[in-house]
Amino acid sequence: MKLSIKDTQDLNADTTLIPLDQNSALPETLNRLAVAWGIAPAILHKEFKADNSEVFAHRKGEARYFLLGLGKDPGYAETLRACRSFSHKFKQKLNAQLTVDLLTCPPRNPEQAAEAVANGLLLGTYQIGAFKSEKTEEHPLASADAALTLVSGENIAKAARTGMAVAETQMRIFDLVNAPSNKKLPTDLGAWAIESGRTYGYRVEVWDKKKIVDTGLHALLAVNQGSAFPPAFIIMEYVPEGGSPKGKIAVVGKGVTFDTGGLSIKPAANMHLMKSDMGGAAAVLGAMETAAKLKLPVHLIGIVPSTENSVDALAVKPSDVIDSYSGKTIEVIDTDAEGRLILADGLFYAVRHFQPDILIDLATLTGSAVRTFGYHAAALFANNDALAEQLTKAGDKVGERVWRLPIWDVYKEDIKSDIADVRNYSGRPTAGAIGAAKFLEAFIDNHPAWAHLDIAGVAFNDSEFATQKSATAFGIRLLIEYFENFANN
Ligand code: BES
Ligand code: ZN
Ligand code: ZN
Repeated sequence: MKLSIKDTQDLNADTTLIPLDQNSALPETLNRLAVAWGIAPAILHKEFKADNSEVFAHRKGEARYFLLGLGKDPGYAETLRACRSFSHKFKQKLNAQLTVDLLTCPPRNPEQAAEAVANGLLLGTYQIGAFKSEKTEEHPLASADAALTLVSGENIAKAARTGMAVAETQMRIFDLVNAPSNKKLPTDLGAWAIESGRTYGYRVEVWDKKKIVDTGLHALLAVNQGSAFPPAFIIMEYVPEGGSPKGKIAVVGKGVTFDTGGLSIKPAANMHLMKSDMGGAAAVLGAMETAAKLKLPVHLIGIVPSTENSVDALAVKPSDVIDSYSGKTIEVIDTDAEGRLILADGLFYAVRHFQPDILIDLATLTGSAVRTFGYHAAALFANNDALAEQLTKAGDKVGERVWRLPIWDVYKEDIKSDIADVRNYSGRPTAGAIGAAKFLEAFIDNHPAWAHLDIAGVAFNDSEFATQKSATAFGIRLLIEYFENFANN
């Protein structure tokens, strides 16, 4: 999609989108539009309240107008949501040229609005049917000659470009998470990373099984024992030109390409959803790509331990004691608590090898997080109040909510093993997300600024794109927002 910025309304534009807030100027604005369009103001007032994502369409000669409601006091998340929904729902009525008028109702923060508009309009072009033999008709804004014009009095080009750049990677990540496990083996995630690193200029190393054995990532290997496919350990590093004066951030993502539960096998009903158990890895891959593409001034390390969790005669069994890269031994009570095992090696490797200033992991880790927050927020755990606050604020801004839960030491009880250093599950159906976080904490080598995001409820969710749950790319925008703030403060 080509982008151009203008500072006057283009009277010749054939399709114009006019986003409108529910503010005190709305009645007056609607009056003016009604008069200009030759319709009775009373009708427009009745038909359009500017609720979020509400649309009023009007045609005047060749020109076509869409009023898009943003609701009251819209921020980044609300603007983005409305634009994404508009772009998706009205694709039949759009063409390759779209003008967005940000003058009629000037946003409070024009840069932020421009980024959200560009991001939302582009995300709305996403089509989920990658494996259909008959291709669905292309969204006009996704075509090669698509051109988006933003009309604003402000300097918003860079922000709009950022919105588009983020959306492009988010859609690549949608494809990755929506792909079934037979089309995305751990080695495929590795290949994705290598290709991305080559395109956007960051370093990628993908370890094969032999290197993983030689290095001693025993917990990753234990989960992989039951799989017909080899594991992969992906190491990414993005160093900005001139280095980063603020330090280094490591992000670690759970890359389970399919979670059957292993011998502690899951019930059949929702097992198909477990192709999304690499949602944490997806967030890390997407954030690395986006940060490199935007050339953010922050030094990043991305780590993705990846394997399938499957069933086999060789599979790890409940009661088995396994080793880990950290040297700690782990009693496997439940083979379905596999994410924390591979993260244990990923986290310890990130800390020991790279000494990051900040350590963040993302994982579709527990059903408990889903029972706690439903599908609306990720569970946040942190041993550092400032980091917890910064992540919460970043999430609020971009519409990816996180809410903090405690990791008090009273919960250490849950990971105490009689025969090994730790166990991977308490055996009780209580405080599951916290127990998992306490387990991870045992593998961060006392790092003083660690945060864990349990994204089980938000990585794969309902949306306008599909009748079933599908990928959200949760975490990319939040991490990018956090990285930007980290670099600028
Ligand atoms: N991948 C699942 C968690 C999950 C559940 C993600 C629902 C997305 C939606 C994880 O590996 C798992 O199975 N966790 C178990 C742990 C338990 C056995 C200690 C869980 O939460 O039930
Ligand atoms: Zn599991
Ligand atoms: Zn899992």
